[in-house]
Amino acid sequence: MSNQVAVFRKESFNAAHRLFNPAWDEATNAKVFGKCALPNYHGHNYELVVKVTGVPDPETGYVMDMKELSDLVQELIVERFDHRNLNLDTVEFRNLNPTAENIAVVCWQLLRPRIPAVLDLQVRLYETPRNYVEYPA
Ligand code: NI
Repeated sequence: MSNQVAVFRKESFNAAHRLFNPAWDEATNAKVFGKCALPNYHGHNYELVVKVTGVPDPETGYVMDMKELSDLVQELIVERFDHRNLNLDTVEFRNLNPTAENIAVVCWQLLRPRIPAVLDLQVRLYETPRNYVEYPA
């Protein structure tokens, strides 16, 4: 039996985006992305669930201090993206289509260097209560 334990922390941010491939014309973007390609953007209440997996420390009993994990997500993700237009206001999505998939990968990349290397990291991003993605898959 594995002695690994997974801990989860959920944080949220609100942001606007538009799904758009600049290499395509408007008609193709509209066909592929539908209303998500409308030029004046739309918003989502994103929920990010961060999963950290490892062996609990024998002295603290913690895989990771949840306050520390919450502070990291606030600092690296929420401060950066909350109430922003992802396409216009962030360097991360200036040249990257801000799909839920890509936002999840970016969140993971921002967090990974700040989580101890012995711990596994996975993120789940809810774009709506019914649509969510996980990275790594
Ligand atoms: Ni959208």
